[in-house]
Amino acid sequence: MKLAIVVLAAGQGTRMKSATPKLLHPLAGVPLVGHVLATARELDAAHVIAVVRHGRDQLAPVIEGVLPGVLLVDQDEIPGTGRAVEQALAALPDDFVGDVLVLNGDVPLLDADTIRGFLAAHREQQTAASILSAVYDDPTGYGRVVRNETGAFQRIVECRDASADELRISEINAGIYAFGVGELRDQLANLTANNDQGEKYLTDIIGLLRARGSEVAAVPVAESWLVAGINDRAQLSDTAARLNALIVRGWQLNGVTIDDPATTWIDLAVTIEPDVTIHPGTQLKGATVIARGAEIGPDTTLVDCEIGANARVRRSDATLAIVAAEATVGPFSFLRPGTVLGADGKIGAFVETKNTTIGAGSKVPHLSYVGDATIGEHSNIGAGSVFANYDGVNKHHSFVGSHVRTGSHGVFVAPVRIADGVYTGAGTVVRQDVPAGALAVNIAPQRNIEGWVGKFRAGTDAAAAAAAAAETSGTN
Ligand code: UD1
Ligand code: CA
Repeated sequence: MKLAIVVLAAGQGTRMKSATPKLLHPLAGVPLVGHVLATARELDAAHVIAVVRHGRDQLAPVIEGVLPGVLLVDQDEIPGTGRAVEQALAALPDDFVGDVLVLNGDVPLLDADTIRGFLAAHREQQTAASILSAVYDDPTGYGRVVRNETGAFQRIVECRDASADELRISEINAGIYAFGVGELRDQLANLTANNDQGEKYLTDIIGLLRARGSEVAAVPVAESWLVAGINDRAQLSDTAARLNALIVRGWQLNGVTIDDPATTWIDLAVTIEPDVTIHPGTQLKGATVIARGAEIGPDTTLVDCEIGANARVRRSDATLAIVAAEATVGPFSFLRPGTVLGADGKIGAFVETKNTTIGAGSKVPHLSYVGDATIGEHSNIGAGSVFANYDGVNKHHSFVGSHVRTGSHGVFVAPVRIADGVYTGAGTVVRQDVPAGALAVNIAPQRNIEGWVGKFRAGTDAAAAAAAAAETSGTN
């Protein structure tokens, strides 16, 4: 039995009140439409057709990225899910024989196994059409499944067209349908836009089929959250929390310690090895990879990062950074793209890094900015150092060798090269290259002007303290 899948992705998403198309809002790091397409991909259909209109230029590359070979169909100005399917079928080869599965683009949690079960039930019952239904405590916003006295499925009524009695029905239409292609083609021709929204509703096909005496089945889904539809941002965050809970549990069962699932957010594409520990308030985003034994958090955000075995990252924010095994980061470190920290290295408290490689065993422990730099192995950058990489027009790169010790409060004016085994004095502004083994200093000798406070700040607390100190020590 052949299968064609139609993914409905042409709607405006008005209820999101967003300049971004609804189906591009991310859920666990994947745009909404990507979830449905990934499920469609698993179903091995002969054809997958995605119908687009609103936000087409932004959606099309995303859709084609997830599912190369997808057939994109442009919906015209006639609105409604029925019109979308009508135009999708016009793009399906005339000689296609089999089932048409319609998936709403804004129902992201539905998995391929549930759909396989639904299709199997549809084929077994040999009905003209089947819909997936669910029972909701609060069915607001969904189309309701209307049954007759004997419980036989009659039709679907949309919320805004429903009577007061119909609004009390808690069984809803999930927006997932299976049709025999012949019946579907026949009835699409009979759809009208005679409803509150003036749209061609796909859901009206069901009533039309029943009126003609065809059998239609409503197949209840095992758990209603599987078919949660996203129309507004409240539903988006509810669904995000549900999906996140599943992701977190999955990693816990795989051997990851997660202290607080409620405050730990993990994107779908993240991978985590066993014996990693994740503390509260941690977000792992994008394609982040965390190796065995690492400890992350609390209060840490990692975006597209690679964290090595047994590394430790505390209260920090990092994007596109690589932290090698046994290295430590934080607390309060800011690792910007291109940061590479070598094995057993350290980026410490209140340190910002960008486009910088720090070699194995090297440390930037306190209060520093390291941008556009390459630092060798086992070097130590003194507290409060700044790599001055920007001349106001261009960015320049600096090099620091291995086994270097720079004094506190150094400024390295790029481009500059500091060779292996160099020392720099505290407060040095390094503007010229430093050869191996040298001590670089350029500070002016210190002058103590004795008695200055007593003379020029007479009457102050400082002057009094100085006088008292002079008394006790017997000097002056
Ligand atoms: C739809 C169903 C409703 C069901 C609910 C389940 C209809 C008429 N109603 O309502 O019975 O309970 O889904 O979530 O189908 N779309 C198009 N072209 C359009 C309009 C919409 O492709 O002209 C797409 C949207 O992008 C979306 C999907 O179809 O992915 C559903 O559209 P939406 O407007 O969200 O329908 P609901 O009001 O949620
Ligand atoms: Ca919807």
